[in-house]
Amino acid sequence: MQAMPDASSRGIRVSDSSVLRVGIVGCGSVSNAYAEIIDPLRHRGDVEVTMACDVITSPVLLDGSSKEDRVKRRWPEARFTTDYREVIADPHVDIVLVLTSMSEHYRVARAGLEAGKHVLVEKPMATSLEEGAALLDVARDAPGLLVVAPHIVLSPTYRTIWKRVRRGDVGKVVLARARYGHSGADLPPWFFGAGGGALFDLGVYNITALTGLLGPAKRVTAFAGTAVPDRSSRGESFVATAIDNAHVLIDFGGSVFASVTTGFTMQKYRTPAIEMLGDDWAPEGYELWRGDVGAWQLFDEEAPDWMWMEGFRHLVDCIRHEQRPVNTPEHAYHVLEIMLKAEASAMDGQARDIESAFPPIDLDPVGPRSSTFEHHDRRVQRDSS
Ligand SMILES: NC(=O)c1ccc[n+]([C@@H]2O[C@H](COP(=O)([O-])OP(=O)(O)OC[C@H]3O[C@@H](n4cnc5c(N)ncnc54)[C@H](O)[C@@H]3O)[C@@H](O)[C@H]2O)c1
Repeated sequence: MQAMPDASSRGIRVSDSSVLRVGIVGCGSVSNAYAEIIDPLRHRGDVEVTMACDVITSPVLLDGSSKEDRVKRRWPEARFTTDYREVIADPHVDIVLVLTSMSEHYRVARAGLEAGKHVLVEKPMATSLEEGAALLDVARDAPGLLVVAPHIVLSPTYRTIWKRVRRGDVGKVVLARARYGHSGADLPPWFFGAGGGALFDLGVYNITALTGLLGPAKRVTAFAGTAVPDRSSRGESFVATAIDNAHVLIDFGGSVFASVTTGFTMQKYRTPAIEMLGDDWAPEGYELWRGDVGAWQLFDEEAPDWMWMEGFRHLVDCIRHEQRPVNTPEHAYHVLEIMLKAEASAMDGQARDIESAFPPIDLDPVGPRSSTFEHHDRRVQRDSS
């Protein structure tokens, strides 16, 4: 797979308006979350929402209003449509935000790039490898930038961990684990059917975090299945068919291994995701064990206000400064290959080779504000007596 050309050398699409104009496709729960990152930029005059699209027009919201009503309340300047192709075709849209159910991601993101727009697509970028590869190919030659969620490598705490791992603060990392899950209770039913599942929705964060730290994987195997087929959510009972429970083993070569534990099958947990407190998409600081210190050190969260939708702000900055995003489509494609091959491996018990790779991520340009790491000693393990 060819690497993406540097954005500055391929002529990034520049907006003919000083305000970047956003078209949103998919006005569900996650569009509410993205509103929190759009609105401060909108109030500053950096962006405006000119189009919004959803296929559901009935009054489905708790207050009896429709998604269109909510869009109009929030962004009176936005035109609403039920056909995403109108968003793609509108010359008054510079950035397309793809926040639909997963099986739509590829189609809408590809159409956006082909129309010359910048695109932010929620995870995963596609639900098959063929579609993922096709989207990468289109993105490579497109004048618009492609940013794929999750955006965790942008978080200041992740960047600090990345920097400390890279400079050898914890020695050579040869074994790692990550975990993310919840009960799935509040999710719409489509999360549990074809093109959904816990790996695409949850494991994707852990796999992105681990490959960001350890580099491209070489091989994957997994136990994964549907442990709780009888589900109910939002007043609807249904039978789940997607994977809702998984242990994934990733081989990075050279006897470096990682595991990912994920599922819509967890009630609560108290262990850190990757010795990162909180979850990797919502960090609450991190703990570090250094042999020379002989203690666990607890480091405060560096940016408590950082939000998991920050990829949108990053995309806006990249467009303005004609830079390539730090979270690359090649990395997203590599993560997609691991997830799909983990699912395939769970079906027949055979480990799968991973064929894709991605350029090393470089978090230095967006590195932490300070290189001094303030900590509170938590627990001295070594007995000095
Ligand atoms: N729910 C979460 O906690 C969460 C968190 C982070 C990211 N995500 C990702 O965000 C995306 C959206 O998740 P959500 O929770 O908002 O789901 P949701 O079901 O609440 O919203 C998705 C919306 O997309 C609309 N839609 C589907 N196909 C469409 C099409 N072709 N054109 C226009 N609209 C269409 C649906 O009608 C729905 O309103 C998913 O990809 C998910 O993986 C979800």
